Amino acid sequence: MGKDVIIACDFASKEQVMSFLDKFTGKKPFVKIGMELFYAEGPEIVREIKARGHKIFLDLKLHDIPNTVKKSMAVLSRLDVDMTNLHAAGTISMMEAALEGLTRPDGTRPLLIAVTQLTSTDQERMENDLLIKEPIDKVVMHYAHNAMVAGLDGVVCSPLEAGKVHETCGEKFLTVTPGVRFADGDIGDQKRVMTPAEAKRIGSDYIVVGRPITAAEDPVAAYERCCQEFID
Ligand code: C5P
Repeated sequence: MGKDVIIACDFASKEQVMSFLDKFTGKKPFVKIGMELFYAEGPEIVREIKARGHKIFLDLKLHDIPNTVKKSMAVLSRLDVDMTNLHAAGTISMMEAALEGLTRPDGTRPLLIAVTQLTSTDQERMENDLLIKEPIDKVVMHYAHNAMVAGLDGVVCSPLEAGKVHETCGEKFLTVTPGVRFADGDIGDQKRVMTPAEAKRIGSDYIVVGRPITAAEDPVAAYERCCQEFID
């Protein structure tokens, strides 16, 4: 799979997401379905969006004992998603079990991406709440490396970390980066942002873009602008 723009469909209901997707009459975008929509509508929402011709990143961030994650991943794999994820904090054995569960009888499987440390976790919280005393950048790269050792395809990271992840884990290890904003757009609650063109330059493989597209006056034009800046 090459570079692509993934739209974060952070909607609360099927009606909202379908009326948003109805606007895309040309190229069907790669979409991210998160916990809110999945828990509200159940697995059927994945089947319906897939049936409309979209690729799907199912962002459920699994984290449990290896056996439970393996069996859950097998269920997600049967939903025919294209990409899904888990927490690298679940350990290398959990990630290996996840890959096993995700692999279909014919050997194919969705891409599997790890979350390292959530961006809502800063150095202070990591030290005080989690008792992890190493610098956060080192922890993020260590978790990325663990994901690579387990055989995963890549990590979710800030576009600012994408270069370092590629240095540590190789060029083929995928970086999926949220926190993207247009140069002339609102940054909202994101702290460290990058334009699609900058994300391309720095080597992100996929950008995950929510509000700059979903809240735009013309979402299709905003999506096309993202693709132009990031892919073309
Ligand atoms: O609307 P916006 O472009 O900020 O949406 C970004 C998407 O990426 C959201 O679905 C958000 O939950 C997700 N995300 C993020 N930062 C992370 C991980 C995921 O913004 N570190």
